[in-house]
Amino acid sequence: MKAADLIINPSTTFKEKPDPKGLVFGTVFSDNMLFIEWSVDSGWEKPQIKPLENLSVHPAISAFHYAVEPRGLTEAKLLHMLWLNEYTLFEGMKAYRGVDGKIRLFRPSLNMDRMLRSAIRATLPGFDKEELLECIRKLVEVEKEWVPYSTSASLYIRPTLIGTEPSLGVKKPSRALLYVILSPVGPYFATGTFNPISLWADPKYVRAWKGGTGDCKLGGNYGSSIYAQREAMELGCQQVLWLYGEDHQITEVGTMNLFLHWRNEDGEEELATPPLDGIILPGVTRQSILDLAHKWGEFKVSERYITMSDLIAALKDRRVKEMFGAGTACVVCPISTILYMGEHLHIPTMENGPQIASRFLKQLTDIQYGREDSEWTVMVS
Ligand code: COI
Repeated sequence: MKAADLIINPSTTFKEKPDPKGLVFGTVFSDNMLFIEWSVDSGWEKPQIKPLENLSVHPAISAFHYAVEPRGLTEAKLLHMLWLNEYTLFEGMKAYRGVDGKIRLFRPSLNMDRMLRSAIRATLPGFDKEELLECIRKLVEVEKEWVPYSTSASLYIRPTLIGTEPSLGVKKPSRALLYVILSPVGPYFATGTFNPISLWADPKYVRAWKGGTGDCKLGGNYGSSIYAQREAMELGCQQVLWLYGEDHQITEVGTMNLFLHWRNEDGEEELATPPLDGIILPGVTRQSILDLAHKWGEFKVSERYITMSDLIAALKDRRVKEMFGAGTACVVCPISTILYMGEHLHIPTMENGPQIASRFLKQLTDIQYGREDSEWTVMVS
């Protein structure tokens, strides 16, 4: 795979760009896509930038991205789709139009590192991370008018890698397709940016397990979470707080990593997030929050286990300051309540500012929109 081999044949018709204020996450797509085929015999074909078009069905459908169970299909159709559902992985990154008019990517090499790790875990083909990033940079350059003229919106970049072996055997695929589609986005949640969310925590569902694929961005991790998410909503909560193990360790929230700012058991001010022990997705925002907090040097920063009983004890002692989710899609998302064992636990995130969550949101978005210079950004144009 070589960016120098890119064949660029963009669309000659242009869709109307949406108003950045009314964007619903992941529903509008730009005019072109990056498309690269692989086979065990020929390796990677020349990368192409070409008009966004349907594969056998539209490239954005959840079956490709999240391995959603294709319910309601006839057996014949189900068998036809199976080969596409077995091996899917994706990435999520964004291009931002800065206050200086320049377009930036945020730490994209971390996405390329994770995508390669996911590919290896899914037995999909490896690739040259720098060459793929350069192809993506070129795609964004071609589509630069799709990067919203707004500092509260961005262009979401969805690299996707799927096995396209047309056979039902569960084995390393001999054919694959890597494509990248672009979607202008505003806030991830319909409730807007920085509105606190309520969570439902029940150990009967697990997102990931030791030895599984929870540390990779595989479609199946997301598709299988929707059932629990629906139950959370039926109980009046917005997202699932994923627990793990007999001691009900707190792991992730919805599709995000989780942070707790508190006074810990030893009375120290601490920012804590669960460690990368195989069941936690190594998020780019997670890493950036840890890096910023280390740089500030104002409180202890820990990658450590936190159980529900640790949290409940801290809530009783009024030691909890803020709890928030972190991810590319929503950046930082405050948490206000947790429904656990029939009890609504109030998390005083909003009463405490939220000072720390807002500070992370501000510094991250300052870097992303070019208000602060940083070596974390890569210029597109
Ligand atoms: C993120 O928080 O960036 C995500 O992974 C959400 C995505 C699955 C839409």
